[in-house]
Amino acid sequence: MNDLKNKVAIVTGGASGIGRSVAELFALQNISALTIADIQSDLMHELSIDLEKRFDSKVLISKTDVSNQAAVNQMVQQTIDCFGQVDILVNNAGICPMVPWEETTLENWNQLLSVNLTSAFLCSQAVLPYMREKKYGRLIHISSVGAFIGSVTGHVAYGVSKAGIIALSKYLAKQFASEKILSNVVSPGSIDTPITESFGEENKKRFREFSPLKRQGTPQELAEAVLFLAGSGSSYITGSTIHVNGGSLLI
Ligand SMILES: NC(=O)c1ccc[n+]([C@@H]2O[C@H](COP(=O)([O-])OP(=O)(O)OC[C@H]3O[C@@H](n4cnc5c(N)ncnc54)[C@H](O)[C@@H]3O)[C@@H](O)[C@H]2O)c1
Repeated sequence: MNDLKNKVAIVTGGASGIGRSVAELFALQNISALTIADIQSDLMHELSIDLEKRFDSKVLISKTDVSNQAAVNQMVQQTIDCFGQVDILVNNAGICPMVPWEETTLENWNQLLSVNLTSAFLCSQAVLPYMREKKYGRLIHISSVGAFIGSVTGHVAYGVSKAGIIALSKYLAKQFASEKILSNVVSPGSIDTPITESFGEENKKRFREFSPLKRQGTPQELAEAVLFLAGSGSSYITGSTIHVNGGSLLI
């Protein structure tokens, strides 16, 4: 399959977990070039060497705090300078600290919303002029089952940030449909990545039992849904959410 040939993507939070799997899958599908934007330089460096060894895709790594507007604008400009276009944006970077309601301060509420939600606004706003110029674009945002059932980790701001992602995506879908820019969400259940390590074995067990499939998902299973939304097979889908959660929303 050469679905992503001649396409350029930005994957935020691409150093680890789901973002890393998305980057690998895009490269496997012959994407022309990829920018990986993350704060973990060593992991990005190691990933770019690995991808360039195994695939033909060009890889740019950019140490970018996606909650910082100047840094985001610089990362998108770098992508344009290197590759001349940006067709696909995957808003994936996120944090999920365990903070109970009683300990939620305005400071950690604001920090979570800026990393998980404001980042998606900033990255979308920065890439949209280039997508509008080409009349082509795929905006793919990563939400969470927490947006639908309340925060599974006890941090209220996490669920709120992930519900905000869905509203942002729907707004962008309506606003830019006439310019052939599609905006969709992939909403994971519990996926086995470093973000869930801090949850502790007890919580991970609870998540496994919560899913009718009785296991966590793999980052690859999530990346497959992102790939579908990035490729030509999803050309009539916008403003939608794909749930990848082992049936966790079933009662
Ligand atoms: N793993 C799950 O169970 C699960 C469930 C629901 C939603 N999600 C969402 O999936 C996305 C990916 O998470 P993951 O599970 O792969 O976790 P992960 O921790 O492996 O990956 C998250 C990546 O985001 C990066 N990041 C964090 N803050 C950043 C910042 N300010 N700027 C740039 N990069 C930053 C991290 O360095 C990391 O590489 C997140 O948005 C997360 O909320 C994950």
